[in-house]
Amino acid sequence: IPVEEFDLVIFGGTGDLARRKILPGLFRRFLSGQMPAGSRIIGAARSDIDSDGYRQMIRDAISEFGGAEKSETGRLNDFIAQLHYLRVDAKGEAGWKELHELIRFKVVNAFYFSVAPSLFGDLAERLHTFKIADNDSRVVVEKPFGRDLVSAQELNDTLAEHFDETQIYRIDHYLGKETVQNLMAVRFGNMLFEPLWNNHYVDHIQITVAETVGVGGRGAYYDKSGAMRDMVQNHLMQLLCLIAMEAPSQFDADAVRDEKLKVIRALQPIDPHHIVRGQYDVNGDEPSYREDAENPKSFTESFIALRCEIANWRWAGVPFYLRTGKKLKARTSEIAVVFKDIGHSIFPGDEKRHRNILAIQLQPNEGMQLQVTIKEPGPGGMRLIDVPLDMTFAEALGPDADDTDAYERLIMDVIRGNQTLFMRGDEVEAAWAWTDPIIEGWKARNDVPKLYDQGSGGPEDAMALMHREERRWREIKE
Ligand code: BG6
Repeated sequence: IPVEEFDLVIFGGTGDLARRKILPGLFRRFLSGQMPAGSRIIGAARSDIDSDGYRQMIRDAISEFGGAEKSETGRLNDFIAQLHYLRVDAKGEAGWKELHELIRFKVVNAFYFSVAPSLFGDLAERLHTFKIADNDSRVVVEKPFGRDLVSAQELNDTLAEHFDETQIYRIDHYLGKETVQNLMAVRFGNMLFEPLWNNHYVDHIQITVAETVGVGGRGAYYDKSGAMRDMVQNHLMQLLCLIAMEAPSQFDADAVRDEKLKVIRALQPIDPHHIVRGQYDVNGDEPSYREDAENPKSFTESFIALRCEIANWRWAGVPFYLRTGKKLKARTSEIAVVFKDIGHSIFPGDEKRHRNILAIQLQPNEGMQLQVTIKEPGPGGMRLIDVPLDMTFAEALGPDADDTDAYERLIMDVIRGNQTLFMRGDEVEAAWAWTDPIIEGWKARNDVPKLYDQGSGGPEDAMALMHREERRWREIKE
């Protein structure tokens, strides 16, 4: 779908996200011809630099964070020429009149709030007072979208004072990942899976997002969040929704988001015994979580595993196990749908539990495996073994099938005016409404996270969460 000419203003345009993700992503879109001639990107921040200084800063960022190696210098120069910079004071008067003069109303205009949420209100208000935004403008906001239900409601109310919901694009970058969207294609583009996708056939579902990085460098933010706020309330919740939701009647923003919302609202409160929190321990020279977070008394979790249930007709009785953590064995994100055992085996001596498992690898080696049971080759009689039907997307579709980064896809969707891959306000609030009592429970009980070894699969108790129900986590491996 073609993109119309646009003016994109990035508040916080000199910040980390802008330099690492947003601008390199836009450059890649430019290289693939998706940035219409005449479009402009306007960095807005407090730094005392001019447009030339900004262009240099972004040129350096693109060389450092990717994209530039693919291009000829000439293309980078053309892209850089489309950048502008304005010094704007979010809480004062400086820069706003100039921004009003610069912005064009004849083209799509979008305002990316890549700043602390405490500034959203000031920005939204000034965009209106200075007549910079109109009813067609779009605003893009980043996580963290609140830290609990009340603060998320406040942010939603603040934005709603100046913008309609159809103008607000709340980013969860997991929704921009190719394989995350593929979940919908697999479920709703095939006849094979959907008839089995329910509590008659599914034993349980596992969602794992394992990381090898620690929190060093962003400990101050992370220590106030923990894995529950940083990953579960948003990214894992979105994965859960896409795996569990009913089929929307069509692939449009509200139809999809209505179905996701129903899943979140059907999530049951969690029994505290069904949650394991962990913190990574010191490992030789590698600092512990507490050292990385610079908080020797921190009780914040860098790992979490939990078991939850969705109370509806499709999923009643099917546990969903979610886990995510830092400094684990490997970087991998995977969803596994584990089907029930066959009810009766006709093969004498075959006592093993054979289970079909559909495993979907979201990153880094995107692909799908379907574990099926077959006869072990050879003369030994009817002995059965489980083998995977294995497909990595790189092998099946070619290594360069898609190198679109989540951010670039999402930013282009903003310009196209497509909200399907963005979170609606009620969705975010429902997710916090489920998360809040869990976090409050930890506080009330002074819950202490269990230490786990760096490079492991998380604390032992996380294994026990499954073992006591005669299930097991899939191995964390790339
Ligand atoms: C971010 C979290 O939203 O997602 C980080 O704040 C986390 O803590 C990151 O590392 C993971 O994203 P990705 O795309 O690397 O899986």
